[in-house]
Amino acid sequence: MTQDELKKAVGFAALKFVKPNTIVGVGTGSTAAHFIDALATIKHTIIGTVSSSEASTQKLKDYGIPVFDCNSVDSLDIYVDGADEINHQMQMIKGGGAALTREKIIAAISKQFICIADESKVVTTLGKFPLPIEVIPMARSYVARELFKLGGKPIYRDGIVTDNGNVILDIHDFMIPNALEMEHKINNIPGVVTVGLFANRGANVALIGTANGVKEIK
Ligand code: 5RP
Repeated sequence: MTQDELKKAVGFAALKFVKPNTIVGVGTGSTAAHFIDALATIKHTIIGTVSSSEASTQKLKDYGIPVFDCNSVDSLDIYVDGADEINHQMQMIKGGGAALTREKIIAAISKQFICIADESKVVTTLGKFPLPIEVIPMARSYVARELFKLGGKPIYRDGIVTDNGNVILDIHDFMIPNALEMEHKINNIPGVVTVGLFANRGANVALIGTANGVKEIK
């Protein structure tokens, strides 16, 4: 199976977590896009969605699926999203699609984070994938210098402006044995909006697409 077929398989497998008459948190990226395709097949059974990016919002609206403002929703049953990496503690790197801040907010108001990913995303130690950090534009150089001090090589993601009007620094060559501690440290740098480490709020369930089918990990 191709990587995209594995992504599609987990996107559709996540439907079993969607309860009727609920509002569903929806992530961003190519795997989440498959989940939106899946959600469209049962759209009349749900109230609607809260979306983590303009791109996902557009796709949901194209299907005629209602998208609610996050501020109008107290809590969500589930949030379904992909990941750039996930480890065996269910901690993740996210933000390859630059949507990490909205993703983290929706994850925070959701009872369950359902991570959907193909097996190439499963790692023992996070950090092979460059760690995305959303930064206030005027703080970019300062934050980069602070990240150097933590041992990373931050690289400005040229030409990318997030949905919140900010920029992205990606830390390359940065293995992260203690993701909780690193999430806390990076979040404390003034000018950092969000670090793409989802350790404090990891996944509750991971649906991993493999050549032998979808594996469910809790
Ligand atoms: C977007 C994300 C995505 O979930 C992550 O980049 C995975 O993307 P894909 O499903 O396309 O592999 O965090 O900000």
